[in-house]
Amino acid sequence: MKPLHQLQRLSQIQTAIGAITILLLQSISFSEDSLPDHLVELAWAYAIETEPNPPFEDHGGTYGLPGTPKRFTREQIIGAKDGVRFQTAPADWFPQDHPEMPEIYAYGDPDRKIIACALCHYPNGKGKAENAPPAGQNKDYLIQQLLDFKNGLRKSAEPRKTNYQLMIDCAVGMTEEEIESVSEYMASMPWTKWIQVVETDTVPKTRIRGGLHIPLEGDESRTEPIGDRIIETPVHSYRTEFLRDPRAGFIAYVPPGSIEKGRELVTSGGGKTLQCAICHGPDLNGIANVPGIAARSPSYMARQLNDMKQGTRKGTMSALMAPVVQNLSSEDILNIVAYTASLAAPLPDYEK
Ligand code: HEC
Ligand code: HEC
Repeated sequence: MKPLHQLQRLSQIQTAIGAITILLLQSISFSEDSLPDHLVELAWAYAIETEPNPPFEDHGGTYGLPGTPKRFTREQIIGAKDGVRFQTAPADWFPQDHPEMPEIYAYGDPDRKIIACALCHYPNGKGKAENAPPAGQNKDYLIQQLLDFKNGLRKSAEPRKTNYQLMIDCAVGMTEEEIESVSEYMASMPWTKWIQVVETDTVPKTRIRGGLHIPLEGDESRTEPIGDRIIETPVHSYRTEFLRDPRAGFIAYVPPGSIEKGRELVTSGGGKTLQCAICHGPDLNGIANVPGIAARSPSYMARQLNDMKQGTRKGTMSALMAPVVQNLSSEDILNIVAYTASLAAPLPDYEK
């Protein structure tokens, strides 16, 4: 166990870094007025943190989760060492849920600015709304994406999305063999249910922390109209944010009627776009190296459609998507991803 003063130092440093980052972000003065419309309309999908958040309280001991006898300190949970983040393998709570991870996926390599993939995408490749869900995608597709990041062909349309640069650094640092082995690993795990989609007029009021919408607690808790937004939140915020529970999925609140409007566009093209099934397969689970888009994070998918529309995601294969996104409004994007996220996926073994 780490002496308490070191853990306190870690949390003080993290708080200070958080405050400085936010000051820097604010000083770049992206007020809502100067942002392009698409970033205002799709702010829910990029979930940029613009206000300081209360720090996590670490009691300094070990933590557990339902369904596993394992216990880890907070440092172990996030793969920190002696108060420094991103140094080693983050906690693997359920090794029985996935094949053996390639070393670079489990540990990363700080000397090459490669953070353990398992930290953000989880050991099971499910990922969280602020990153990506690579599990069960085709291996060649995944290799291509890593090369696109590496070659500067895949960037975010939202310059304040700072975790995106960390992803690019990971891809830049990897060898060809590593890109091959992590892609094979992620492709080997089937995609299973991870998102629950609920149509509703009102949503819990949330704060944005770490790129996620987190419901407010205690006195602050109340609801507000959903408006033209999808609000994707962890089912158990504490287990997701603090414990990194890779079995705790997400709930996506979507506006009433959005699923049906999205279904119409996806299945007929609605005169604005192409039928997605032509390339993504009849069930939208992907064909060959065209990725699956069903039952995956709507926030992630909305960012992709917008990034492709804005031309910041322009990888080797994304030319095929150009006519698809060209005439889509932000509202169309919302409706489409509400529908795709709502599609069925098989249950994971631990829920059977
Ligand atoms: C700091 C968090 C972080 C780490 C660590 C990280 N990623 Fe990512 N990853 C992201 C983000 C952010 C995205 C893009 C999200 C977006 O497009 O909005 C992403 C996207 C991806 C994608 C694209 C998925 C798709 O469906 O197109 C792949 C593949 C991927 N990451 C693999 C990896 C691998 C392999 C590693 C380890 C070498 C890794 N990531 C480490 C944050 C991370
Ligand atoms: C002509 C073939 C084609 C059609 C039609 C098509 N797609 Fe795609 N789509 C692709 C290809 C190829 C990619 C991979 C792009 C890349 O590598 O950057 C892709 C990628 C995507 C992605 C990013 C997935 C990820 O994991 O990052 C989304 C989201 C997407 N398509 C949604 C749609 C939707 C919604 C429709 C229908 C409205 C659609 N696509 C129609 C070929 C197509």
